[in-house]
Order: sequence, then structure tokens, then C-alpha cells
Amino acid sequence: MTSKTRVAIVISGGGSNAQALIDAARAPDYPAEIVLVVSNNPTAGGLERARQAGLPTAVVNHRDFAGRAPFEDALHAVLEEARAEVVCLAGFMRVLTDGFVARWEGRLLNIHPSLLPLFKGTHVHEQALAAGVRVSGATVHLVTPELDGGPIIGQAAVPVLPDDTEDDLSTRVLKAEHVLFPLALRKHVEGSRGLKAEAALPDMLLSV
Ligand code: GRF
Repeated sequence: MTSKTRVAIVISGGGSNAQALIDAARAPDYPAEIVLVVSNNPTAGGLERARQAGLPTAVVNHRDFAGRAPFEDALHAVLEEARAEVVCLAGFMRVLTDGFVARWEGRLLNIHPSLLPLFKGTHVHEQALAAGVRVSGATVHLVTPELDGGPIIGQAAVPVLPDDTEDDLSTRVLKAEHVLFPLALRKHVEGSRGLKAEAALPDMLLSV
């Protein structure tokens, strides 16, 4: 059995996406292992999820640093220390500078709760409802200096219902994220290792 790709997860909040990745990586044939869960927020619920799973955790609190660059240097250091080969941003709420992205480009994935390129940035579900779209969803993409603009690895689509509130839509999209991210990470790892991507991401229209 070839060694598994070492994946670090970067979070800021509840970590439900991190949990989905942790759960998926338990499968013996999953091509990646989670080696670290790191948060900029010391009280992030996702840290407890990682501890419950027996995984190493770290906190790099952006408030402890005088600017983005020293914060990102510290974040980079803990990722290097964990010998991370791929980094998954999962509910990570800080914008990363071009400098950090350049160090990880091609190995840095993010999940965004819309069907990019629609509805970049924040207040995503508010944007979707205001636009009157009938379908929304989630996107896993490679991170580039353009915010929410990198190459798309996978998407999951869900219906937008006439009486949806932002909460209704965000709940439905979040469930789709939990299916999408593990599949997208698997596709990325298998693709980038030149393996036959037998787990290529199926065309998913998730009716979650
Ligand atoms: C959610 O709004 C999700 O759509 C986005 O990040 C937020 C927190 O997700 N990707 P998580 O539960 O911390 O993974």
C-alpha cells in the first residue's frame, strides 16, 4: 500500500466540513490521511471534533500577530511541521495573501457555499436568494490569488425552494458540502498522484 497523502485542515468555526473529511479518511482505501487540524480561532468547535478523533490540533490565533504576513508565516510553520502535503480550508474565515497562496498553490483547496463563479465572497446565500436562482450549491476549488476564483475541482448542486430563508438554504448547502468535500479531495489526491481516478467525482445533483 503506497503511503497516504498527508492532509492538514484549516478551520475557523464549527468544523462540520472538517468532520466530514475526518470521517471519510477513516476508510482504509481513502488515499489521504488527516495529519493536523489547525484553527485561527482558539475556541473553534472543530478543534474539539479533531481531539475527539484523536488527531493533532494547533491554534495560530491571528490576533496574536501584528499583521497578515507574520500570522501566515506561523500558520505555514505548523503546516510544514506536520509535513502536510495538501491543505484544505474548511470554513476558514481569513483571506490569505498572495504570498501564502504562492507557497501552497496547487496543494491548497477551499470549499465555498455557492456554485462558483456565482456569488463569490460573503453573504453567499443572501446573494443567491436575492438573485432568484433556482439552483445553488457548493464548490471545491484550488486556491489562487483571485478570491474564490481558482480552478474548480468539484461542485454539488441543490434546489432553491420558493420559500427558502437564508438558514434553509445554508443548511441544505452545508449538507451537500459534507458529501462534496471528501469526494473532491479524493479526486484531487488521486489525480495529482497520477493514479487512475476511479473515484472521479460523479456528476452530482444533490437533492439533500
Ligand atoms: C459554512 O457556512 C460553510 O458553508 C462554509 O464555512 C462555514 C462553516 O463551515 N464552507 P464548518 O461547519 O465550519 O465546516
